[in-house]
Amino acid sequence: MDKFMIEGGRKLYGSVKMQSAKNSVLPLFAASILTDQRVIIRETPAISDVSCMAQILRELGADVRFRGEDVHIDSANACCHEISSALTRELRSSVFMLGSLLTRFHRAVIAYPGGCDIGLRPIDLHLNALKRLGVSIVERDGFIHCSCDKLRGAEIPLDFPSVGATENILLAAVMADGVTTLSGAAKEPEIVDLQNFLNAMGAKVSGAGTDVIRIEGVKELSGVTFKPMKDRIEAGTFLIACAICGGEIEVVGVRGENIGLLLHKLRENGCKIHTKNDKIRLESHGRLRCNRRIETMPFPGFPTDLQAQATALNCICEGGALIVENLFETRFKYVPELQKMGADIEVKGRNAFVRGVNGLHGASLIAGDLRGGAALVIAALGAEGVSEVIDLSHVDRGYSDFQEKLKSLGAEVKRVRG
Ligand code: UD1
Repeated sequence: MDKFMIEGGRKLYGSVKMQSAKNSVLPLFAASILTDQRVIIRETPAISDVSCMAQILRELGADVRFRGEDVHIDSANACCHEISSALTRELRSSVFMLGSLLTRFHRAVIAYPGGCDIGLRPIDLHLNALKRLGVSIVERDGFIHCSCDKLRGAEIPLDFPSVGATENILLAAVMADGVTTLSGAAKEPEIVDLQNFLNAMGAKVSGAGTDVIRIEGVKELSGVTFKPMKDRIEAGTFLIACAICGGEIEVVGVRGENIGLLLHKLRENGCKIHTKNDKIRLESHGRLRCNRRIETMPFPGFPTDLQAQATALNCICEGGALIVENLFETRFKYVPELQKMGADIEVKGRNAFVRGVNGLHGASLIAGDLRGGAALVIAALGAEGVSEVIDLSHVDRGYSDFQEKLKSLGAEVKRVRG
């Protein structure tokens, strides 16, 4: 098990380029089997969730080749509609495969999906929507068996703006007979990216980024070469790291409005922020102030994927903060690790009460999930003394070249092979 050795206390300076967005690239991989022509996804991030998705496509019979930073996917020979339980359990995004497998083969079998251990993560919204499109679903022995004669466009109201369910519906409806109208859709920028990708293949999707998405089924989709949007969660993680450590950095590739509420909260902390096109510059000097309250919400609210990092920042600010997690039940599992560093946090259900302390000290930390793990890394960068962050398997799911990027900004981080 690899680990990071981090010597805290270095300020961060410089400019860092963001990777393509994990949460955009994963559904694009799923969408690539909608056509038997070649799909090229440019600048794919070297993260383990992407390797896992590539493995899923290979199991289905697709030819997936990484060429430099690009990936070439050729699924002309794909013939299998079942995804093995080992891979589905490793990667929750494999649930998107339901929509695209149904479009391509009218059948799909997947095990109940896995991913980060941050709560129940049910998939009822996905399954109910697929039923509306004409899919029969049988759940047996931990597997979901889906089939249909043909997919039919439908009116689909979503009770909650689930990102995954919205994307799955797009993938299932894109070649259905007739028009699908999805209301109560998730509005995350990654959904707009998926719409752009599908339309570049010849689909007729409109409205992504708003509550209502209209999908007019088309007869066929063609190959495409596509450059995904950059990772706003990675950008947020680096900006919060600089807020914690002090210094001045610029993240390149992400537009300010895609993490608008985070920037607002960082200004509340006392950071100076300038945005221009796809660059965000942050300056952090001296002791910052706590945010009174941060509450995670679907986009454009505060992203749950930046909750842990924002909590780490508040731990060393002046005052107190209430952090409310509305999306996932158990997303405070990293808190005992921050407490090992001297943080003063009390968790009650979905609320974490943070009382700011003067500083954290180094400790031996276990990264139990992706964003919680990133929060520990950036907390350690700002702490006094040496920390080790053990088990990088979760962090590797979402951050490519994490230590190189941090080092390029002046951080003292070493990856030690375990
Ligand atoms: C996606 C992101 C993840 C992010 C999350 C919320 C990807 C690959 N992952 O995950 O990084 O944290 O959005 O922004 O894009 N829910 C149900 N029933 C369902 C589906 C979801 O009850 O059928 C609930 C979930 O339990 C959760 C909430 O809805 O409480 C949000 O889930 P959702 O938006 O679906 O998140 P994911 O697509 O899994």
